Amino acid sequence: MRLQNKRVIVTAAASGMGRAGVELFLREGASVAAVDVNSAGLDALAADMKSAGHHVHTVLADLSRPEEMRSSIHDAAAALGGVDVLWAHAGIPGPGGIENLDVAAFDLAMALNVTSAALAAGEVVGHMRKSGGGSIIFTSSISGLMGSMMSPVYSAAKFAVVGLTKSLCQTFAPDNVRVNVVCPGLADTPMKLGFTGRSGDPKEAEANQAKLLAAVPMGRLCKAEEVAHAVLWLASDDASFVTGVALPVDGGFTAR
Ligand SMILES: NC(=O)c1ccc[n+]([C@@H]2O[C@H](COP(=O)([O-])OP(=O)(O)OC[C@H]3O[C@@H](n4cnc5c(N)ncnc54)[C@H](O)[C@@H]3O)[C@@H](O)[C@H]2O)c1
Repeated sequence: MRLQNKRVIVTAAASGMGRAGVELFLREGASVAAVDVNSAGLDALAADMKSAGHHVHTVLADLSRPEEMRSSIHDAAAALGGVDVLWAHAGIPGPGGIENLDVAAFDLAMALNVTSAALAAGEVVGHMRKSGGGSIIFTSSISGLMGSMMSPVYSAAKFAVVGLTKSLCQTFAPDNVRVNVVCPGLADTPMKLGFTGRSGDPKEAEANQAKLLAAVPMGRLCKAEEVAHAVLWLASDDASFVTGVALPVDGGFTAR
């Protein structure tokens, strides 16, 4: 088991890739705290994990609010008795353009994609230092490596997350804290429509998805579990000399 005795916090854990990560990390022997704003989703996750013979600590928090972000990490660390791994996964697509920009929507996208990641990392690093090291994994996107015509604000936010990774990996290296980021392609989770279906027209969403997939050499959507497995490797001691990496999980999209 690759995460035996590891204490792991996952944010945005009630759905999609975060949820897939919680399930996988528990199977790999970790103690896990799941943070999310969706109370019913957290309850369902806890019940499903219980049926599978596992316990997950759940922490309800709106991670776009700095105080809730900080207190959720504090509560999660207290429940776990420390932190060895953080997957700061929270993010949202944000507005689709910048003409007549909705500044509140722009700020919310930055708060959840960037500020929450920086705050979470800042809160856990003291715990990791105390126990001799740790692994922080952020979630960016293919749009954090290449520009995105459909999601410019999101792309700006996800480039910032890659910048955080490349900087913090250096800051925290003397503490044996590694910092990496996964960059998924368009993934088969509820968030997908936030990118392809902003207009609310299902035909347009389908056409947008087809356009995006046409540029994926492997020709399909990313599965939540595929991202969870990449994060598992970065979290584990198998990646003990890997830090500062922006790892695409994208079927070759960014290799073109
Ligand atoms: N789905 C994709 O196509 C895709 C591709 C690349 C990167 N990503 C990134 O992956 C992450 C999540 O994507 P997913 O596909 O797993 O999404 P998802 O829609 O399946 O899950 C998102 C989770 O975030 C939670 N959440 C939303 N707002 C929150 C808030 N204010 N506070 C706390 N939790 C909140 C939701 O309740 C939900 O459980 C984001 O960072 C996203 O940018 C997604």
